Amino acid sequence: MLHVTPDSDAAALFVADQLDEILAKVAKPVLMLPTGSTPKALYALWRTCFQAGSFSMANCRTFNLDEYWPCRADNPISFRAFMDEELFSRVDLPAKAIGFLDGTVDESHFESHCAAYEQAIIEAGGLDVCLLGVGVNGHIAFNEPGAPADSRTRLVQLAESTRKRPGFPQGVDAPTAGISVGIQTIMDARKIILMAFGADKASAVKRALEGPISIDTPASLLREHQDVTWVMDEAAASALQSR
Ligand code: GLP
Repeated sequence: MLHVTPDSDAAALFVADQLDEILAKVAKPVLMLPTGSTPKALYALWRTCFQAGSFSMANCRTFNLDEYWPCRADNPISFRAFMDEELFSRVDLPAKAIGFLDGTVDESHFESHCAAYEQAIIEAGGLDVCLLGVGVNGHIAFNEPGAPADSRTRLVQLAESTRKRPGFPQGVDAPTAGISVGIQTIMDARKIILMAFGADKASAVKRALEGPISIDTPASLLREHQDVTWVMDEAAASALQSR
């Protein structure tokens, strides 16, 4: 399903409504969460609703898509710091319900760390929803063009466009690598919601929705998932032919 909204605030309302339905139905919802500028409006809405008493994450279990490597959680560029600031410290999600990839894991422990992350998702009951942004090159999480479709959590090298994404803090050198869930980890979610905002996402969105289903544009593989909702503003949808 494709849903185009005037702006990211309207999109956040739409996504929050969809998630409310799941949160109401599922006793212990398991969410995969993204970072970046894309989910900011949703997290802001959740904070507001939490303060107003109409939203709670007390029963949720969360995982995050990715983390820079090497990168300490207390480094301001880390995805963990972003999530703490935007969401975790501002709502009632219990600390023990937060799953996060460790940007300090030693190279000799990558394999066990990544396998444990996949196992934790399985033990939580699998992902009810995976929320995603999309990179200008069509990447999802840190799965860059060419990533294996059957990939799972692993160390990945980052594309230059990913390192230089507009939301990245000025004057800081972005890491060249990250740890990321794989394409298959994402495809195993029962529901996927991808959000895209702004004209710089229009080309990636067009390739994802109207180009060939190919690992050259990782987001295009989502079209093979049975329940994916594409939520975007007019600018991100502007290159689409069929709407
Ligand atoms: C990073 C993240 C992705 C995110 C993308 C887009 O590479 N790993 O999960 O979707 O950036 O970022 P933004 O939302 O800031 O455009």
